[in-house]
Amino acid sequence: MTQALQLASTIPPPRPLPSAVRAVDPEPVLGHGRVADANGTTESPEVIRVEQLCKVFGPQEERVRRRVKAGQGFPDAAAAEGVVPPLSEVSLSIRQGEIYAIMGLSGSGKSTLVRCINGLVQPTQGRVMVEGTSIGDATPSALRALRQRRMSMVFQTFALLPHLTVAANVEFGLMLRQDEVSTRRRRVEDVLAMVDLSAWKDRRVDELSGGMKQRVGLARALAPDPDILIMDEPFSALDPLIRRSLQDELLRLQKELKKTILFVTHDFDEATRIGSRILIMKAGRAVQVGTAAQLFGTPCDEYVRAFTAHADGMQLLTAGDLARDMPTTPEDGLPADATNALVFPADTPLARMLPGLQLGRMVSLEDPQGRNARLVRSERVLAFIGQLYSDAGRTA
Ligand SMILES: Nc1ncnc2c1ncn2[C@@H]1O[C@H](COP(=O)(O)OP(=O)(O)OP(=O)(O)O)[C@@H](O)[C@H]1O
Ligand SMILES: [Mg+2]
Repeated sequence: MTQALQLASTIPPPRPLPSAVRAVDPEPVLGHGRVADANGTTESPEVIRVEQLCKVFGPQEERVRRRVKAGQGFPDAAAAEGVVPPLSEVSLSIRQGEIYAIMGLSGSGKSTLVRCINGLVQPTQGRVMVEGTSIGDATPSALRALRQRRMSMVFQTFALLPHLTVAANVEFGLMLRQDEVSTRRRRVEDVLAMVDLSAWKDRRVDELSGGMKQRVGLARALAPDPDILIMDEPFSALDPLIRRSLQDELLRLQKELKKTILFVTHDFDEATRIGSRILIMKAGRAVQVGTAAQLFGTPCDEYVRAFTAHADGMQLLTAGDLARDMPTTPEDGLPADATNALVFPADTPLARMLPGLQLGRMVSLEDPQGRNARLVRSERVLAFIGQLYSDAGRTA
């Protein structure tokens, strides 16, 4: 066994990364809706912005609202009325092209949050902006148009019309918004081909398996060619194999379509496979947001740590995470012979890097943006990985 593989087999559980926790407040906007990342560089334009969103259902809602108007803070107002609010001061910012996973235990407010974003639920307090439109200020017809054209939803329970054919289910939303017959028929053919269901288009939905039904749900959501897809636990009702293949299918489609996707799940593994970033919700609050590696390396509390505890850091953490998070040393500034350097693209998992890390060898680590590769000695990388895993507080 090579030295690196020996190290891999004896590596204890990881310790928090020294940096990289993202605050849950929206990132600063840099004009024209572009947002700054943790390093201050600009990324894709902001598509959804949620500011201090709060929700209380039922008769207490008005009483809480009155208290807030009188100057009390929302959490105190809700507590004074004896309610645990489904949403409390949630802020977030979602960028164009992201798959933004929302994760948390049952009842933590995930569905309420996405329903506030698409205007199905009116928040008690706070603001939602979608592509520059304030959802709270939109008229009912503007909201309807938004949901028919710019924002689609995929549900856990499929929510299909079982007695209609696959094609009719996919066409339904296009009919409601009065698209021309020929346009919508063409669109139905196109989206059914995308989800590999062309051969099933004339079958009734109640003849299909769960996985196929959910592909119909996805085709129906894609039919209006929305900018934003909201998926509320879309794969939770499916068995693990089908679930994984649908995750792969979604990732494949996303490479082509580049939608902005909000993906609700209560499964950390699913969130890490699917999400570019993951928001962790706890009892109505947004407790942490970050990449899978950031949550794994720097869980902000025991609740987040519990979700990440059984995740496989060797698969989750990548060369890009090391490039970003390894502290610099004076050695970094020295000229090094890079002719034999082993190059690791940013998305290489640690498990695939380890066999290449031989003493004396230089390695080049690409950063997550795919530029500014860092040239370092293998020994330093091995030492850093060892340091990550030297905290005994986590199960491997
Ligand atoms: N329409 C409603 N009326 C009253 N209470 C509601 C309503 N919708 C949600 N709630 C309450 O708000 C809280 C958050 O519910 P929500 O459905 O947002 O949680 P969730 O994280 O999506 O849970 P799950 O994983 O079970 O779907 C729960 O306590 C729930 O009972
Ligand atoms: Mg839910």
